[in-house]
Amino acid sequence: MFSRYKKPSAKSAEPVVALAEGQAAAKAPAPQQPKATPKPTPANMRKPRSKPAEVSPQDREKKRKERLGDIKLEMHRVLLDNLNLAAIDQASEKELREEISAIVAETLQDKGIVLNREDRQALNQELYDEVKGLGPLEALLQDDTVSDILVNGPHQIFVERAGKLQMSDIVFKDERHLMRIIDKIVSAVGRRVDESNPYVDARLADGSRFNAMVPPIAVDGSLVSIRKFKKDKLSIDDLIQFGAFTEEMAVYLQAAVATRLNVIVSGGTGSGKTTTLNALSSFIDDSERILTIEDTAELQLQQSHVGRMESRPPNVEGKGAVTPRDCLKNALRMRPDRIIVGETRGEEVIDMLQAMNTGHDGSMTTIHANNPRDGISRLENMIAMAGVEMPLKAMRSQISSAVNLIVQASRLQDGSRRMTSISEITGMEGDVISMQEIFRYQRVGLTPDNKIIGHFTATGVRSHFSERFKMWGYDVPPSIYEPFRPE
Ligand SMILES: Nc1ncnc2c1ncn2[C@@H]1O[C@H](COP(=O)(O)OP(=O)(O)OP(=O)(O)O)[C@@H](O)[C@H]1O
Ligand SMILES: [Mg+2]
Repeated sequence: MFSRYKKPSAKSAEPVVALAEGQAAAKAPAPQQPKATPKPTPANMRKPRSKPAEVSPQDREKKRKERLGDIKLEMHRVLLDNLNLAAIDQASEKELREEISAIVAETLQDKGIVLNREDRQALNQELYDEVKGLGPLEALLQDDTVSDILVNGPHQIFVERAGKLQMSDIVFKDERHLMRIIDKIVSAVGRRVDESNPYVDARLADGSRFNAMVPPIAVDGSLVSIRKFKKDKLSIDDLIQFGAFTEEMAVYLQAAVATRLNVIVSGGTGSGKTTTLNALSSFIDDSERILTIEDTAELQLQQSHVGRMESRPPNVEGKGAVTPRDCLKNALRMRPDRIIVGETRGEEVIDMLQAMNTGHDGSMTTIHANNPRDGISRLENMIAMAGVEMPLKAMRSQISSAVNLIVQASRLQDGSRRMTSISEITGMEGDVISMQEIFRYQRVGLTPDNKIIGHFTATGVRSHFSERFKMWGYDVPPSIYEPFRPE
């Protein structure tokens, strides 16, 4: 077993690299009688420091991690020299783990390093992650409580848990280590990232969205952002329970989506646009043929008749790009009942609006904007940027007849995500698109620990589409339009 994935020429007994600084002292007590050694701790494996009594538990833990980090780096080099990398792909997880564990045991013994069971297991796991997975990122990718991973250079990794960003204690050894993991990710999808090509988008094997930017454009070390793929997307019920919107708003949204209004979800980065879009799609009837177009396939529609498309950036030679617009044009030839575009950010806006205007009503997309009005301006800008020469009024009239509803997703300063506005587009008044807000989130204050106090309320305006809802059999009770009245 041990030799199966080993390079034929490797001599595992020869330590390849000198011991890292500070580990020489570990040589003495270990090799002959590891069992008789009192339970080894990081403290008794190191040279005695001048004032050992004053080391705090946190310092000890930090030192332990540093030492494990050094050993790991060392081991990784040994592993790379000893493992037959070509054979690793064929190895089962169990075989590879056994192999790593054996090489680790052998090398530790050669070097006279004693580790307790827990540290050894952690080392084996980390090395497995290095060889097979994405190194330090692997533990965060496995951790279901983490939703975003943000790497600012090798020594700073932030994670988002329950809407809050926090610094993690996981680090890369150095920039080279971080770059190696980035390379591993992007080469797996046939891309390259280097000085001449310093940023890249990719999708990880588990579906997570990945973006990296490397030096010199990233000044203090590579920047990596990962939006973790959630196997169980938040449902309408979950979102109501989390306070993202109310049941009344859900009743309204159900009527809007089911009666095929064209919906745009607007919001800032990470505000929950995709989550909202995904949840709204659950109101689509199962008999409809839905086509989805995304840069990175994130949506998880529950319907049975769904065709998914993913656009593709150009390859390293600058060829082979398939833009969202290409996908959208093609989608129109694929007899869709509805088209869902993950995010509209460029020239595809023209085709999206046309699709919404010409028989593919009930289509949905998201845009980056901070409020519904800005959302409209953003659409106008995108049309202008796409090089379409059109008088402003004509442009607005096209937008106003294509889009029926703008749903605003926001990430508030306390990390909570809420649907802060649901606004209808009701037509044109002169040169201006007229809108009416039906629901909004009303902020009233801040608790001492910076939690936002507020409530959802209807504005008192009845939906412009009430008749339509009724005609389609959605009897939306008038009470949902009544404003919130505090007792
Ligand atoms: N109401 C909510 N409550 C709690 N978590 C939420 C809520 N809405 C979204 N999230 C979580 O927030 C993260 C970001 O959500 P999402 O991907 O939908 O944002 P986005 O606006 O599409 O981001 P981007 O601009 O990067 O595409 C996800 O991990 C998601 O699960
Ligand atoms: Mg998104």
